[in-house]
Amino acid sequence: MTGPYLLPAHLDPAQPRYQARFAVEVDGRRVTAHAGQTVAAVLMSLGLTAWRECGGRGRRRGLFCGIGVCAECVLVVNGAPDVRACLRSVEPGDVISTRGSGERG
Ligand code: FES
Repeated sequence: MTGPYLLPAHLDPAQPRYQARFAVEVDGRRVTAHAGQTVAAVLMSLGLTAWRECGGRGRRRGLFCGIGVCAECVLVVNGAPDVRACLRSVEPGDVISTRGSGERG
């Protein structure tokens, strides 16, 4: 799309550098992610705002601070537990599990 106030996409300095899309797996479901997204952004694009339970009490946890401080967003990425979803950028082929991490309470 072009117009008098729009630059062609290839000349737009605000154009995102990476347009690549790739597949990742979230709880066994194959989904499309965009390069540069955090794991939390991918989950939120799927409509998930809370992805783990606080040990035994059933309280749902997800994104809270969004800057790596609170650890409310931890999950499992490629088998590594306690990965902060708000800090970790997705990579092609990542296997993300919202279960089995940070369930201590
Ligand atoms: S939301 Fe607080 S560490 Fe990720």
